[in-house]
Amino acid sequence: MQYRRKRPEDTRGTIRRLLSIMGHHRKMLYLVGILTAVSAVCNLWGTYMIKPIVNDVLSENGASKLVSGVIETAVVFTIGAAAAAGYTQVMAKLAQKTIYDLRRQLFDHLQSLPIRFYDQSRHGDLMSLFTNDMDTVSEALNNSFAIVIQSFVQLIGTILILIYLQAKLAVLVMAGYAIVLIWIRYSGSVSKKYFEVQQKELGSLNGYIEEMMAGQKVIKVFNHEAAAESRFHDINDQLKHAGIHAQTFAATQVPMVMTISYINYAAVAVIGGWMAIQGQMDVGSLAAYLVFVRQTALPINKFTQQTNFIMNSLAGAERIFKVLDEQPEQDEGSVVLVHAQRQQDGSLQESDQGIFAWKDTAHPQQDLVPLAGDVRFDHVVFGYRSDHPVLKGISLYAKPGQKIALVGSTGAGKTTIASLIGRFYDINDGEITYDGFDVRSIAKHSLRQSLGTVLQDTHLFTGTIEDNIRFGKPDASREEVIQAAKTASADDFITRLPDGYDTVISQDGENLSQGQRQLIAIARAAIADPPVLILDEATSSVDTRTEELIEQGMDRLMEGRTVFVIAHRLSTVRNAKAIIVLEHGTVIERGSHEDLLALKGEYYELYHGMTELS
Ligand SMILES: Nc1ncnc2c1ncn2[C@@H]1O[C@H](COP(=O)(O)OP(=O)(O)OP(=O)(O)O)[C@@H](O)[C@H]1O
Ligand SMILES: [Mg+2]
Repeated sequence: MQYRRKRPEDTRGTIRRLLSIMGHHRKMLYLVGILTAVSAVCNLWGTYMIKPIVNDVLSENGASKLVSGVIETAVVFTIGAAAAAGYTQVMAKLAQKTIYDLRRQLFDHLQSLPIRFYDQSRHGDLMSLFTNDMDTVSEALNNSFAIVIQSFVQLIGTILILIYLQAKLAVLVMAGYAIVLIWIRYSGSVSKKYFEVQQKELGSLNGYIEEMMAGQKVIKVFNHEAAAESRFHDINDQLKHAGIHAQTFAATQVPMVMTISYINYAAVAVIGGWMAIQGQMDVGSLAAYLVFVRQTALPINKFTQQTNFIMNSLAGAERIFKVLDEQPEQDEGSVVLVHAQRQQDGSLQESDQGIFAWKDTAHPQQDLVPLAGDVRFDHVVFGYRSDHPVLKGISLYAKPGQKIALVGSTGAGKTTIASLIGRFYDINDGEITYDGFDVRSIAKHSLRQSLGTVLQDTHLFTGTIEDNIRFGKPDASREEVIQAAKTASADDFITRLPDGYDTVISQDGENLSQGQRQLIAIARAAIADPPVLILDEATSSVDTRTEELIEQGMDRLMEGRTVFVIAHRLSTVRNAKAIIVLEHGTVIERGSHEDLLALKGEYYELYHGMTELS
């Protein structure tokens, strides 16, 4: 697992951005600002009231003035408490609304990102954006945001009042707090180092747990439990040591603030008392002063306690913003898929239903082109990393109605070719055309709508089998679902399940066999009745008899359709129109099954190797 920072790189920028999201609920934000300020001012005012009250008590006619002073104090404190209750309520709502916005933005944005982004990010890291990071941001907004504003106003107000009451004493108090600030900075910078070590250890612990949980079966197969435990104890131990260092050092901050504030208190009491005796200060001011000096410890403490927490949540917010800044998938294509009907004169006319046709929205005067499924690769060069080409100048063509097989050893680039047809990646050189259009000029949604794809690693979603098949065509009827399942030869096993089509698939299909999952994935691709089908190792886990049945179903479905089949089992591809043999990203042989066998090249070797094995 990636090392997760505890502090933001750009604190100001992150705060500004977070505020701008909170700004969507501007009124609430202002209300929180006003109420925290009111509560802080009331606290200051109420405390300041000690001065007139004490002085009044000492004056003539003290009793009646005392009553009015006490009433005023009570009113001020009550207003302050009401304001505090108000801002916590508003803040709780504001925090939830802000997190709601942020969560939605993040999820929507993730949907728009290219596959390349997912190649480069770990699942766990993306998940923890939604769990850990959202949580800390939410907590910070809920609890810390208003407290920090309030403490800040109160601190500044206290300092101003101290200076106003007795400037000389204020210098003394400030000197004490200057020491506190220096200590906080110093200890902060030292504990930061330990905190980083702690985070790193925590990251590797979490990564290890995640891996061991996911790999439980492999661990059991290899009797690896004891080794896994001992490795865990080691990492856990390192985390403990790092944690002790980090926490004990950070824990010196609060006691330090308290100690200095007591010392300040004592010094002010002695010097202030002496000044009062000398007549340089009235007794009321001294009493108020002492309370204020005690009170400053409170906001400072809150500040230091909240700082780590806030920094941590800002780091989380920054991680979320980084993903939000990722470039969405480029889609500049202007050619879209429409329905059309052929006119008497042979031309195509756009309509509500009928056959599919391509329409270039950038050039509306151009004729519609019927969707046929003609795919051509012309000297295509592509690499997942620009410095490392995986396909080195591939040329191939598939005419409508042809079944093209891609074979070749593991890592040769078969899956890569399949993903380029749907433009999940952009190529570095050469051209890929689809019915004569460069794939880059076709709107992605239309392009992918016209392709039925069975990916090499099947992924099913939580829901019933019927839902999963319908994923390929959301408005399909139950009959269509069953028909697609029959085409994929999946109907047979589905109807034998206790709940049939209503069987709920859990956890990516854990309750089905690998081959059954593949059959559902094939039905899911077949239901949309696409002109181009891409089957990447779609039948690698089913038995040969089922495979034959699927093939027959597909053949029925295949009329006028282009099919790309990628298969290790060469019996599957024998009846393909053309077999393309790939090796290290280049086409080394091309031809029919018989041609290639006669050639006695790579295909011949693969074929005989395979048949000997099976
Ligand atoms: N997402 C990716 N990021 C970086 N490199 C990749 C990625 N996917 C594949 N590769 C690399 O590209 C090359 C071709 O991979 P590809 O998946 O196309 O092979 P394949 O022919 O489908 O193999 P297999 O028969 O095992 O499925 C491999 O060397 C692989 O390491
Ligand atoms: Mg593959």
